[in-house]
Amino acid sequence: MRGIILAGGTGSRLFPLTKVTNKHLLPVYNQPMIYYPIRTLLDAGMDELLIVTGGNNAGDFLRLLGSGREFGKIHLNYTYQEGEGGIADALRLAEHFSDGEKICVILGDNIIDGSIRGAADDFRNQDQGARLLLKEVPDAERFGVAEMEGGRIVGIEEKPSHPKSNCAVTGIYFYDNTVFDKIRTLKPSRRHELEITDVNNAYIAEGSLTYSFLDGWWTDAGTFESLARANRLAAARAGLVLDDELVAGAY
Ligand code: DAU
Repeated sequence: MRGIILAGGTGSRLFPLTKVTNKHLLPVYNQPMIYYPIRTLLDAGMDELLIVTGGNNAGDFLRLLGSGREFGKIHLNYTYQEGEGGIADALRLAEHFSDGEKICVILGDNIIDGSIRGAADDFRNQDQGARLLLKEVPDAERFGVAEMEGGRIVGIEEKPSHPKSNCAVTGIYFYDNTVFDKIRTLKPSRRHELEITDVNNAYIAEGSLTYSFLDGWWTDAGTFESLARANRLAAARAGLVLDDELVAGAY
């Protein structure tokens, strides 16, 4: 199984932080954001990776990561998304790289505490279809939200104002190679993007979507609030004293 990190888009919700750099190169505690999804995929046994980036600062990824040598045994590939046509539009560019294999796709601003090893192994053993990782959250309206019925996902809505559950669809997706045919059938959404939620709904329609719940904390880092949270969580994991303790100890 091959790994794909989607790191395109303009990061407009983080402006002006993203005026002269790409969102995924911003710091999250002591590492550039992109290091976290790279390590998530490596930890789950994928060392053949594609980074899809875009915008004005794509060359900075090469300067930062180079061949990926600092991550050990890894084969890094890069491609470039023109414009920001959506997550599924960025994924489209991975068809040649995937070479007929199953893929694991992770959004470049998704940071997790634990491991996806178990889910990756489950998907390696799954004949066909797709597998999602869900997380129960208090603010589901910010995400793709799964509608559950009898233990199955029966539909997914993108950022609904009235979520049908508290189960967010995280930005970590496992797909078989039919994903690229499904992307070809998509029409742009109201926000003029090819939506990953429409891809997932296509798998639901053919009855081949499975899921599991992600262990440990999960956050995106695409807004000021979530970027600040990502920093605090990553720092806490590194053993830094935080929040109440930090304030109490301040001058
Ligand atoms: O974080 C999980 C959520 O990510 C899911 O629950 C949603 O269903 C999914 O649509 C997505 O929502 P966001 O609104 O947070 O996606 P955003 O536009 O912030 O893009 C997330 C990442 O996807 C971004 O860090 C880079 C990549 N991306 C995005 C776009 C729009 C691209 O590579 N190219 C793009 O054109």
